[in-house]
Formats: sequence, C-alpha cells, structure tokens
Amino acid sequence: MLASGILGYAAETFERIVESGAGALVTKSVGLKPRNGYANPTIVQTSCGLINAMGLPNPGIGEFVKEIREAKTVLDVPLIVSVYGFSAEEYAKVAKKAVEAGADVIELNVSCPHVKETGCEIGQNQKILAEVVEKVKAVVDKPVFVKLSPNVTSIAETAEVVVKAGADGITAINTVRAMAIDTETAMPILSNKIGGLSGPAIKPIAVRCVYEIYEQVKVPIIGCGGITNWQDAVEFLLAGATAVQIGTAVAIKGPNVFKAVNQGIDAYLKRKGFRSVEEIVGLSHRS
Ligand code: DHB
Repeated sequence: MLASGILGYAAETFERIVESGAGALVTKSVGLKPRNGYANPTIVQTSCGLINAMGLPNPGIGEFVKEIREAKTVLDVPLIVSVYGFSAEEYAKVAKKAVEAGADVIELNVSCPHVKETGCEIGQNQKILAEVVEKVKAVVDKPVFVKLSPNVTSIAETAEVVVKAGADGITAINTVRAMAIDTETAMPILSNKIGGLSGPAIKPIAVRCVYEIYEQVKVPIIGCGGITNWQDAVEFLLAGATAVQIGTAVAIKGPNVFKAVNQGIDAYLKRKGFRSVEEIVGLSHRS
C-alpha cells in the first residue's frame, strides 16, 4: 500500500501509483476544516530518512469528498482515507463523511508526533483513544484501522486498547519525533523545530513494534516504517504484518518501488517453497 502523507489527495497521482503496483492507497490525513499547515521549511532530508513537519495541511473533508468520489470512479484498488480530529466527535464526523463519499477503509491518525491537541496527544491517552475508536466505529460500516505511534511506553498495550474499542486493523508505525539543526545558522531547520522521522532509520523500531503487537492482539497488522526493498517487506511479514505500506521510499526512489517489492516477495516465496504470503506472516514467532 501507499502510506499516508506521501502523495496528497489528487486522483490522478493515485492512478499512477496503482499502475506501479500498489494494492491499496492511503490518503494524506484529512480533518473537519481546511488547514494551511506550518510555514516552510516543512521537510528535511537526513542521511537515513526524512524529517517532516507539515502541520497536517489539508482542504478539509467538505472539499475532499470530491476527490474521494473521483478517485473511486478511476481506481480498482481499495481507497483508505486517513482521518484526524481534535476530539472523538470530530474524528467520527470526518470518518462518516469519508465513508459516505466512498472510502473503503478509515485509517485513524492518532499518531502525528507534533500537532497540538491531535495525533500523539490522542494516541498517548488511552481513555480518549478508546473513545475515538468507539465513536468512529459507531458511525461507519467500513473497516477502521488505527495508525499507532512508537512514541509510547508500550505499543502492545496501546494496540490492546484500540482492539478492545473495536479497531479492525492496526497500522504500525507512524513517524518518530525528531529534529535537525543547521550548523551555520545554529538553528533548528524545520519551522516547527520538531518533526516526524521516517525512512530506513526507523525500520528496526517498526519491526520491533509489529513483533510486539502480533504477540498481543489478533487483528491484522499493516507494517509501515522504512520499507525500501523486498527484504524489508519480508522482514515485516515475518514479524507479523499481513500487509505493508511504503511512503518515504516512494518519495525518494519513485513509485516503481512497488513493482520491485512485489516481484522480490514473489521470488522469495517461490525460492523458499511457500505458496502464499499468509504462510510467512508471523513466522519469526515460532519457538
Ligand atoms: C505530519 C503528520 C504525521 O502523521 C506525521 O507522522 C508527520 C507529519 C504533518 O502533517 O505534519
């Protein structure tokens, strides 16, 4: 799947990603009202990944429903709409409108690492987190995935909270709080100072999170974080993911990464004598 936040909202860009081999698409997070996001610079490239702090810029669900409807007329893969809010009621309102417009799945962003009063501030509070999932589940008749943050003491415990509240799947993980400082100006590079780190640097953290979540809950896990090649994808499947999302590698290497990963997984399964991806999901947990 294409991970959230990489290619925005336009139906045409989604078509290109599907042609490149993605099996599903996740939109950038959308909220109840339009938001401009932070001033530039909003992204910085490091030796091992990207740090970004866009500030959840989006057109608001009222505008975005048009893109969902259009995307649904041209796409033949599931469209997953990422949703954020500043309260459980807001998450539910946005999710309901997204599903009415044609979203196949809702992914709850309860893990943006730096926008105040949403994201991590919701995901790190178990009571509010459960309320968000329950309120969304009460108003949509499509699967609800919850994208979790690694910036917690126990991601397995967080996973248990969202599953008890009704989550149908878990996406693990969102970005890790990070920053970069310019040595010449002696100032933080991002206008927001702190952003979310993605890419190869966070892959081992993400694999560990998927492994721990797999031991705790029984819902499908979608692995995400630093996947750049088929070996990375297989590692996530062995840890317990039933599917994976790719984001930063698409931004850096382009959409052909999907084809390379698909072909690599295929060749690996054949070489090892497996008949399907299911046969290797969680395989590293055997004792
Ligand atoms: C933003 C949102 C995220 O969920 C994230 O992980 C990083 C950045 C943003 O819009 O700024």
